Amino acid sequence: MRFGPEILRQADVLAGFSEDPPGITRTYLTPQHRQAGDYLLGLMREAGMDAGYDALGNVVGRYAAARPGAGTVMTGSHMDSVRNAGRYDGLFGILTAIACVRDLHRRGKRLPFDFEVVAFGDEEGVRFGVTLIGSKAMGGSFDPAWLDAKDADGTTLREALAAFGGDPEGWRSLDRRGRGVVAYVESHIEQGPVLLNEGLPVGVVTAIAGGARVRVAVTGLAGHAGTVPMGSRRDALAAAAEMVLAVERIASAPGAGGAALVGTVGKLEARPGAINVIPQDVAFTVDLRSGDDAARRRATGEMREAFEAIARSRGVAVSFDVFYELAAAPCDASLQEALAASIARQGLPVRRLPSGAGHDAMVFPPVCPIAMLFARCGAGGISHHPDETMTAADAEVATAVFLDFLETWTPGPLPTRT
Ligand code: HGY
Ligand code: MN
Ligand code: MN
Repeated sequence: MRFGPEILRQADVLAGFSEDPPGITRTYLTPQHRQAGDYLLGLMREAGMDAGYDALGNVVGRYAAARPGAGTVMTGSHMDSVRNAGRYDGLFGILTAIACVRDLHRRGKRLPFDFEVVAFGDEEGVRFGVTLIGSKAMGGSFDPAWLDAKDADGTTLREALAAFGGDPEGWRSLDRRGRGVVAYVESHIEQGPVLLNEGLPVGVVTAIAGGARVRVAVTGLAGHAGTVPMGSRRDALAAAAEMVLAVERIASAPGAGGAALVGTVGKLEARPGAINVIPQDVAFTVDLRSGDDAARRRATGEMREAFEAIARSRGVAVSFDVFYELAAAPCDASLQEALAASIARQGLPVRRLPSGAGHDAMVFPPVCPIAMLFARCGAGGISHHPDETMTAADAEVATAVFLDFLETWTPGPLPTRT
């Protein structure tokens, strides 16, 4: 195998850059971000690319076209992780692209377009609560208000960027709209069981689910756990528990919109958090996804109404703040066809499937057409978990498919670089 074993070895090296070893947690603008970025910078340069950090701490490698003035094809994925993550989420898409360039460079081959590989510094949004920071800057949807977002220690994004050696005002120069980018194509592990269950190493993504994220605060009344009668309590945690079940009920409802709807309460904190005190304040989050934006918006409204009814019935207050929304992103039909043809040339069946997970690709439609190639996950498809796994053979196949795509895809008339 030319690519697979080396990609997995590189992922093992990157897994060592973690804030909480032996687990894997690597958040934005931390020393671990720098370690991973420097390692990927080295791989890009060794593969024959011009590479460096941009103003927001993304690592960008460029493999120039055979002739100047050609358009640009972009790829990439994220080098940050969720807490207690797996080692392939994001990183596989970066490493497979670098492996393709290394192979092209070794053969002395150039492409009919500039090829740009980006290792995004923050897709998961763990440190500042804002996701897709680097890709949104490139897609033209960066909001400068995010620069004042604070992490758990009270450090603002602006301060962290300056400390990292970035440029808090440099996000404007990253906007790729109107700059000759003709396609953005991202490889990523599936993070689900579909390819595994059907015995397929790769698949073509049809669309990336949109999502909404909600911060909910429930306010009741603290009291002595031993003396307040059950009938006169305003227990914020009991009310929140009923709301959490309402999320599950609404998201599981049959026919909840055309595409599947998923709802998750991933974080919940109760205060004062003492065993003998009735909880007064509860904060929790809701993550709601669907390939059908209208269905997701309907479900969001239903949840808001359900929470308000539960709050009224229990004499507590509730606030419902939708702080993040992202539309579903369809993948370009002709790019899907090109990826499907590359899969078929490997002698493999072509499976198209939607992505329930969000990806950097989803914010690039204002720049150019997008597409994604999925690689099979093992261990039941588990992801965002240390058991996340893939085989060298599947990494090999996915890289061969991506390389075939790069060497055969001919964009339309390439816009000249502005
Ligand atoms: O949440 C997601 O879908 C991705 O892992 N950021
Ligand atoms: Mn992820
Ligand atoms: Mn990811």
